[in-house]
Amino acid sequence: MSSRACDVLVIGGGIIGLTAAWRALEAGASVVVLDPAPGDGATHAAAGMLAPVLEAGFGEPGQARLGTASLALWPAFAEALEHAAGLAPGAVGLETTGTLAVAYDSDDLVAMRRMLALHREWGLGSAEITPDEARHREPAVGQRLAGAAWVPRDHRVDPRAVHGALAAVVAARGTVVRRAAVSLTWAEGTVVGAVDEAGDGYAAGTVVLAAGHASGTLFAGAPTRPVPGTTLRLDAAADRSPAVVVRGAVQGRPVYAVPRAPRSDGRREVVVGATSDEREDDHLTRAGDVFALLRDARAFLPGLDDAVLVETTTRSRPGSPDNAPLLGRAADGLCLATGHHRNGILLTALTAAAVDRALGVAPVGSQAAEAVEAADQFADPRRFVDTYASADTYMSADTYTSADTYSTTRGGTA
Ligand code: GLY
Repeated sequence: MSSRACDVLVIGGGIIGLTAAWRALEAGASVVVLDPAPGDGATHAAAGMLAPVLEAGFGEPGQARLGTASLALWPAFAEALEHAAGLAPGAVGLETTGTLAVAYDSDDLVAMRRMLALHREWGLGSAEITPDEARHREPAVGQRLAGAAWVPRDHRVDPRAVHGALAAVVAARGTVVRRAAVSLTWAEGTVVGAVDEAGDGYAAGTVVLAAGHASGTLFAGAPTRPVPGTTLRLDAAADRSPAVVVRGAVQGRPVYAVPRAPRSDGRREVVVGATSDEREDDHLTRAGDVFALLRDARAFLPGLDDAVLVETTTRSRPGSPDNAPLLGRAADGLCLATGHHRNGILLTALTAAAVDRALGVAPVGSQAAEAVEAADQFADPRRFVDTYASADTYMSADTYTSADTYSTTRGGTA
């Protein structure tokens, strides 16, 4: 059993954890990331929609505000990351070309119009268009369409490219340990590190808990749950597939298709998603889910029939009790960056701003102050602590390593 010391220990190497690690490195901190398989959680399945408008849910105006504030930061975030990773502009695949919403039958159109009314009420930009106008905007859309809407401010990015850029930056300047954290280490009410699955200890000035749906197993005040979803990756002819995001409902079932820019061989990746289940986490893809996603996607985009099915991926989103994220200082020494549910990619830029504030780093993007204000208002990291983890239970719960254990682990080699 050994121990190492760092300024910032990040638990979780997905897009959120590596974003926190990058921001800490920018602050000049020494950083260790703990994750047995970085990027193999929700990040791996994510399609990359940046969609504060079409992800806005009835009764969740705060989340729409978080999403809108984060979207405003994305161009500066992408540019800064590409620069830090030594990549060409555009390498992380940010595309600001809008989204086409589609309704399959008259009931789907009724539901879509309710949603458009909500957008009007909340000042989110969307406008109903005719099926002909929809086909004009996106020629890959087929004939079977009851109605459509254009959403100019819902965009997309390539989550795997973003994660790859973050991984390059963090590998060059920090340390990634491919092990799982099994407990936080507490001393007199302060988080002072963590212990990994091999029993090695890490002493840190700040621990950032970004372990996705597993965060709650390490800190009861972050009561996350798995929300598994399946996405499919297709390799499609560029002229038989959409150029913009197309999403909607087929007889009440939601479906989306998120295209990447075409490659030089005239083909492109299209990500089709997604199921959303309340069950335990596993990576097993159900045959019926693949069938239903393809059936519903081809109802709008018949050209996808010719695409090659390259990958089926099932991973769990991190849900919180109110499905809003937990961002910022939750206890002395502990910063949360978890609970992003369906919007982990969208909220990555806002999470960076929240971590910057928590760690005292100069923020990326001129609208970071607005994002941090939204995070303070709608992503309070302490809102579940009283219910799920009172101060007394911090030190007594089985999942937490006691202060005594900490003192025996911190003396080893760094
Ligand atoms: N962001 C879309 C999804 O979680 O399926």
